[in-house]
Amino acid sequence: MVKTVTRLLLIAATLFSIGVSAAPQRTSAVVAGSKAAKLDACVEPTSLMRRRHFELIKHQRDITVHQGIRKTKYSLSGCVDCHVAKDSHGKYIPVNGVNPETGEKQFCAGCHEYAGVELPCFSCHSTVPTGK
Ligand code: HEC
Ligand code: HEC
Ligand code: HEC
Repeated sequence: MVKTVTRLLLIAATLFSIGVSAAPQRTSAVVAGSKAAKLDACVEPTSLMRRRHFELIKHQRDITVHQGIRKTKYSLSGCVDCHVAKDSHGKYIPVNGVNPETGEKQFCAGCHEYAGVELPCFSCHSTVPTGK
């Protein structure tokens, strides 16, 4: 009996904490029609990605370019592959562009424009999956 009550209390406490922590969450920047839209998690927890994604990719670039190590976990092409969306004809929309059909800013663009942060990477790097 005591065990059952304890268990019920634990469940109630868990449900309560889920409700509380979910309440103040921002709406997601993830774009409909991307692989990411069908998944629950990024390569690291979302709060960490929001705060530190640039450190992760820059670090990845340093080890790739300078040490020739090609881990794919934080690769820029990996970000693009999972966060890119397609238009209604199945054509990829550049990850730093705008959906011509809906006017929706794409994943890396919307938030960066909002935050006023330039994204100088895509003059060299592909904004759509290259299929490698
Ligand atoms: C395999 C798929 C996948 C890959 C690869 C991936 N992401 Fe994500 N990302 C997601 C998903 C899914 C979410 C949303 C998680 C959630 O709902 O909490 C997300 C969330 C984010 C967010 C937070 C968005 C918000 O709403 O505030 C940022 C920023 C982000 N990703 C950047 C990156 C960057 C940069 C890379 C490359 C280093 C990357 N992601 C690689 C799937 C991915
Ligand atoms: C002047 C061209 C140029 C610019 C601008 C540039 N890169 Fe790169 N980057 C390269 C080249 C060349 C490589 C090595 C080739 C490769 O590994 O694909 C590379 C490799 C990388 C890699 C490792 C490969 C991968 O896909 O993960 C990452 C990560 C990366 N760059 C991130 C960035 C980020 C973040 C920015 C913007 C802050 C940026 N790069 C801007 C040329 C550039
Ligand atoms: C939820 C909002 C958000 C999303 C989504 C987002 N970014 Fe960012 N990004 C930021 C903010 C804010 C900064 C500046 C943070 C700072 O300087 O403290 C930043 C900084 C960066 C930087 C460093 C820029 C520099 O010049 O030093 C890179 C590189 C970067 N983001 C890449 C990406 C890529 C690639 C994507 C898409 C895969 C992406 N970001 C998606 C908000 C976002």
